[in-house]
Amino acid sequence: MRILGIESSCDETAAAVVEDGETVLSSVVASQMSTHGKYGGVVPELASREHLRAIVPVVREALDRSETRLGDLAAIAATVGPGLVGSLLVGLTYAKSLSFASGVPLIAVNHIEGHIHAVILESRRAARPIEFPALALVVSGGHTHLFEVREGFAYRLLGKTRDDAAGEAFDKVAKLLGFPYPGGPVVDRLAPHGDGSAVRFTFAKMKGNALDFSFSGMKTAVLRWVQARDMQAEIDLRRALLRANPDPTTEEWLAVTPQLTLDLLASFQRAVIHELLTRAAASAEGIHARALIVAGGVACNAGLRAAAQGARLPYPVYFPTPGLSTDNAAMIAAAAFPKLERGEFAGLDTAAQASLALA
Ligand code: KG4
Ligand code: ZN
Repeated sequence: MRILGIESSCDETAAAVVEDGETVLSSVVASQMSTHGKYGGVVPELASREHLRAIVPVVREALDRSETRLGDLAAIAATVGPGLVGSLLVGLTYAKSLSFASGVPLIAVNHIEGHIHAVILESRRAARPIEFPALALVVSGGHTHLFEVREGFAYRLLGKTRDDAAGEAFDKVAKLLGFPYPGGPVVDRLAPHGDGSAVRFTFAKMKGNALDFSFSGMKTAVLRWVQARDMQAEIDLRRALLRANPDPTTEEWLAVTPQLTLDLLASFQRAVIHELLTRAAASAEGIHARALIVAGGVACNAGLRAAAQGARLPYPVYFPTPGLSTDNAAMIAAAAFPKLERGEFAGLDTAAQASLALA
């Protein structure tokens, strides 16, 4: 049973064909990074326009590469939220039109559930199925959530960020220091060159749910650190490097990044990882989890992967491969598979929901 997945919630236009919820026959992602990079973040109006430009060729390529005709599909799945409403509308409307024209049923998928299913798909394919209940840590540019995942994909929210998402903190800190958007990958590459214990980040005690996160304080601490030093010259050097070369190598970045700044990056990354893993481990313990799933763009982070593997947790930890960590449509098609089995179809009146919750 083949499902066509369509994802357009943020700044990637993506389409994929997945068979039986586990075999990725094609996965096409058109990134808008070059459009938004110079603004240091996603510009919603530009994102919608780029989705409009890309959606038809991207879907066609996903069908062609998997040698699938519309009539071969068991369902067409599209992200309905959460995300930028103008971006969501492009993928969802196109999915509805295809469904209407072909008679193939439509399935609405929550983007966050998609991220979790990227990991479930790969665990099935690797014949290492995830046992439930599992604890899912979803960390991306828009979300930092802890969910209990029970058999049959029932979710319960255990904690979330009260302000910035973890990926957003990476992006803001990088921007502040003259690095490009998205910031996570470059910070990840440079962090091993710095001393992660050089700069101490202190955290304010939060009232209420102890499993909630807060990353805005860390971003402010970095801002203060930068303001207390004269860093304009090195920031200008990095911006100039980026103008001359949109994709510098690690060596080129190192040449314009003094040791003290590398120490700051390493310390920042270490503090974020510590926050993520301590709360994930506490939540997992609380639900007697039999697995930990880490999903979303920040799951690409090499430091986070190493720390999670090295933490000797009493249950297996599952990360998606990097291609399935960041936004893609294979995860949307995979999340739609159990809904197809349950006959959970969506009507043509389904609306995009910018702040759709999973639980
Ligand atoms: O899942 P995603 O593609 O989009 C959202 O749903 O938000 O995640 C993008 C986020 C960005 O904030 C980016 O900086 C972060 O994931 N990211 C990383 C890494 N690769 C991407 N953060 C830390 N380390 C990385 N290697
Ligand atoms: Zn995402």
